[in-house]
Amino acid sequence: MDEYINAAVEQFRELLCQQAARQARMEKNAPAKDFARAEKTVIGVIGGDGIGPIIMAQALRVLEKLLKEELERGRVELRQIDGLTIENRLAQGKAVPEDVLAQIKACDVLLKGPTTTPKGGSMESANVTLRRELDLYANVRPVSIPEEGIDWIFYRENTEGEYALGSRGIELPGKLTMDFKVTTDAGTRRIARAAFEYAKANGKKSVSIVTKANIMKKTDGMFSRICHEVAADYPEIQAEDWYIDIMTANLVNERIRNQFQVFLLPNLYGDIITDEAAQIQGGVGTAGSANIGDSYAMFEAIHGSAPRKIENGEGDYANPASILKAAEMLLRHIAMAEKADRLAAAMRECIETEKRVVVTGHRDGATCREFTDYLLEKL
Ligand code: IPM
Ligand code: MG
Repeated sequence: MDEYINAAVEQFRELLCQQAARQARMEKNAPAKDFARAEKTVIGVIGGDGIGPIIMAQALRVLEKLLKEELERGRVELRQIDGLTIENRLAQGKAVPEDVLAQIKACDVLLKGPTTTPKGGSMESANVTLRRELDLYANVRPVSIPEEGIDWIFYRENTEGEYALGSRGIELPGKLTMDFKVTTDAGTRRIARAAFEYAKANGKKSVSIVTKANIMKKTDGMFSRICHEVAADYPEIQAEDWYIDIMTANLVNERIRNQFQVFLLPNLYGDIITDEAAQIQGGVGTAGSANIGDSYAMFEAIHGSAPRKIENGEGDYANPASILKAAEMLLRHIAMAEKADRLAAAMRECIETEKRVVVTGHRDGATCREFTDYLLEKL
């Protein structure tokens, strides 16, 4: 056992040094890109696995229509990036193969379909790798149910917490395993800033800081403390502390849930609660997700690659709503809010009011392409 313990201590030392170096790097981050002034914006398009390429083909039809003029003028480019498939990743033994990462880094923003994460083994999720490599620290997920007065937005920290070292835990073989959770000052400050800036710009009255600081005293304790320090710069916005367990209950409490506005949380709690919130909205297939950093941003469907749907032969019936919401967020991010509004209005008409063509995700509903034909009529 001693030799394992010694090796583990050595490993821990290395992890700690790396994370301390990352914290120091974050302190000198460059200012964010200004898309309104960009001469050209390159949108990388990554289909991904399973139902990914199917829903992405439809999202592309929508973007091509909305961006027709910009594409013709060369103001915007839609650039297909292949190779982020589970087959290629397994063959190369890399979560994101280097040549693919280089292509990705040559773009400004990305629209990405779901990618399969191998269970067990040591290969990291492509999402997690990309979030880290591109330093996409804010995972922003809106959920809205207008008839209930629900208008939530989740600011999930996206590069730290349980995810930072999730593939680099420690093991005393057969006896004991240990994973790590990392919270840094700079990493927390920047996500808190993003959430409060959003709240301020959008007239929100409160930000709910959600942790389990009663148990995870160091990491969540620090997260909560720094969020309150940032909150002090926004006296008009109320900063409330909640624990994640009661907050998951609050979201299914119809009497009180519509009073929450902006949620600010560490990575794993944000992961879990945003699936719950998406389900309340109508299913995980209905929500979009933005991963935003200062140099890059990646917009994706919140759901997975749905391998069962492909096995059942129901891939064509997949719901494109989530990737379309992601496309809407992408347009907003690159300073094309008017086009984003048009897409959102058409989506509302198709999904909430008129509902002439309905996707159920199964054979009893419309296909992804049929729904998109309908949506294109409304654009
Ligand atoms: C999400 C997903 C990812 C996550 C997976 C695919 C790694 O669940 O974007 O919420 O855990 O962050
Ligand atoms: Mg998730």
